[in-house]
Amino acid sequence: TDLGSYATLELDLTDGILTLTVNRPQALNALSQQVISDLWKAFTAIEDSCTHDAGWPVRGVILTGAGGKAFVAGADIREMASMEPDDAAEYARSAQGVTLLIEKVPVPVIAAVDGFALGGGCELALACDFIYASEAAQFGQPEVNLGLVPGFGGSVRLPQRVGLGPARELIYTGRRIDAAEALRLGLVNRVLPTRQELLAAARATLGEIAPKAPLAVGLAKQSITGAYGLHTGQGLEIEAGLFREAFTTEDMREGTTAFLEKRKASFAGK
Ligand code: HXC
Repeated sequence: TDLGSYATLELDLTDGILTLTVNRPQALNALSQQVISDLWKAFTAIEDSCTHDAGWPVRGVILTGAGGKAFVAGADIREMASMEPDDAAEYARSAQGVTLLIEKVPVPVIAAVDGFALGGGCELALACDFIYASEAAQFGQPEVNLGLVPGFGGSVRLPQRVGLGPARELIYTGRRIDAAEALRLGLVNRVLPTRQELLAAARATLGEIAPKAPLAVGLAKQSITGAYGLHTGQGLEIEAGLFREAFTTEDMREGTTAFLEKRKASFAGK
């Protein structure tokens, strides 16, 4: 499987689980335009590989940061400092495009946050399906300290994840919170003591998902993401359409037949 190679990303594909590591530790993995472009290309390659013909080589993604100090410390402030308003809008849109693509790839993406997830880093983590953190994790939206506002989806996805009150407080104060507080707010699903245990826990969860019908997992992701925030009736319409789509797959026939024949299902991903 060739998912490409990238100046700012490390890729490791083991047992169907792709660990994608943002690798700019000298800048605490800040999201330069190069990183945004590399993430776009990598997630496009992942999306393209999610077919029966390509063999579904990736069944889950762990997104993390290199260096042990940060997940991602935000947008690259050095690059942003000299941007004109229209450049900034284009930058925000391209990074928002990455967050939408992460939501669109039909496999689960877990953000494994060890160290700082600030500004664009917190927003990148929020675009993932869910977040696991180490005890060293720190989250925050410090944009107001720079005269900025969130631009990679934070003012939309943070309220969705933790509710309006806590999101407003975090965004207006620019305050940093630790892993325990992030867990209490529901920003993260789990907190693990060390980086090693963090990555092991993320791998274990994706390992649990990997043998399931991949199209079904993808449809479930599409349903949850597509229905979120809509009126109940509209959300249920989306769900019914995707439920129908599941019935067009061989995997659905295999899964239900295997149950009735009292054997273990073996899914081909088609
Ligand atoms: C560019 C960054 C950076 C960033 C850190 N660095 N964060 N470079 N962009 N976001 C660089 C530092 O300049 C420094 O480089 C090196 O990484 C190590 O950082 P230090 O500050 O020396 O480390 P430390 O003292 O431990 O402090 C860690 C920190 C601090 C608290 C995380 O670096 C920090 O506050 N960073 C900025 C966090 C932030 O404001 N993020 C939000 C950005 S706005 P040198 O060369 O000196 O060694 C944003 C908007 C998103 O994300 C939406 C846009 C559309």
